[in-house]
Amino acid sequence: MVIKINFKKTNELIEKFEKSIKNPQIDKSKKLYTGIDLGTAFIVLAVIDEDKNPVCGAYEFANVIKDGMVVDYIGACDIVKKLKKEIEDKIGVELFDAGVAIPPNTESIDGGVVKNVAEAAGFNVCEVFDEPTAANKILNLQDGAVVDIGGGTTGISILKNGKVIKVVDEATGGTHFSLVLSGSNKISFEDAELLKRDFKRHKEIFPILKPVIDKIISIINRAIDGTDVNEIILVGGSALLENIESYIEENIKIKTLKPKNPMFVIPLGIAIGIAKKGE
Ligand SMILES: Nc1ncnc2c1ncn2[C@@H]1O[C@H](COP(=O)(O)OP(=O)(O)OP(=O)(O)O)[C@@H](O)[C@H]1O
Ligand SMILES: [Mg+2]
Repeated sequence: MVIKINFKKTNELIEKFEKSIKNPQIDKSKKLYTGIDLGTAFIVLAVIDEDKNPVCGAYEFANVIKDGMVVDYIGACDIVKKLKKEIEDKIGVELFDAGVAIPPNTESIDGGVVKNVAEAAGFNVCEVFDEPTAANKILNLQDGAVVDIGGGTTGISILKNGKVIKVVDEATGGTHFSLVLSGSNKISFEDAELLKRDFKRHKEIFPILKPVIDKIISIINRAIDGTDVNEIILVGGSALLENIESYIEENIKIKTLKPKNPMFVIPLGIAIGIAKKGE
C-alpha cells in the first residue's frame, strides 16, 4: 500500500508557528483566529491569520484538566486569559474569534465547559471540534490512525476517507512516563517532568519508559484490531520522545510517523479549522 501522508506542508506550518512564538508575524489588516488547546499538561494558544499564516502563540504547563475534563474552572480561565493577554501585548491587536477542541465523545459532558472557559477569557468561540478532527485539519490523513499521546491519555482515532470513524481514549500518557521516571530515579514528579523534556536525555530514559510505551502499544493494537489501518500518525506532546515512532512501528508492524513538534498539531489544527470556516 502506498503511504499517502506528506508532512512537508504540515512541518512548514509548525516550524513557522514555533518561530512566531518568539517573533510574531502580524499584518494588522488581516482577520485573526485562535486555536485553544486545553490539555492535561499544557494549555496552548495558536494564532493564525486569514491566509493561514502563523502569527503568534503561547503556552503554559497547567493542572486544570484531568483526563480531558476541566477540574479547575477558575484556574483554566485565568491561564487562558493570561496567555491571551501575553499574545495581545506582543502583537498589539485584540484576539476575538477562537476555536476549542475536546476529546471525542465528551461533548455532552464537557463541550460546554471548555467553550465557557474560552468565553470567560474574552474569546468568541466559533466552533468546538473533537481533537482528532482538529488534528486532521493540518495532517490531512485520508486513511489510517491518528494517535494522540498527550499528558493524561492516549487517544486513537481511525480515519476512513478523511473522516473519523472510530475513537478510543485511554488513561495512559506523559504523566505516566513522569511517574515511572520519578520512581526509578528517585526524584520528584516535577523533576521527572523536566528530565523527560530534555531531548539530550531521551536515549538514557527510553529503556525506563518502555513498559509505559508497551502499554500504549497494547492500547493502539486493541483499537486498530479488525480495521485495515496501514499508517499511524503520532501527535501530542509525549510523541516528542525521540524514536518513540520507530519503537511503535517495530512492535505494531505498521508504518508510524510523526510531524515536527507533534504537540502543536491540535492547537494549530483548531485555528486552521476556524479560518477555513471563515472563508
Ligand atoms: N520534549 C518532550 N519530550 C517528551 N515529552 C514531552 C516533551 N515536551 C512535553 N512533553 C510531554 O507532553 C505531554 C503534554 O502533551 P500535550 O500537550 O499533547 O498533552 P495535553 O493535551 O496537555 O494532555 P491530554 O491530551 O492528555 O489532555 C506532557 O506529559 C509533557 O511532559
Ligand atoms: Mg491533548
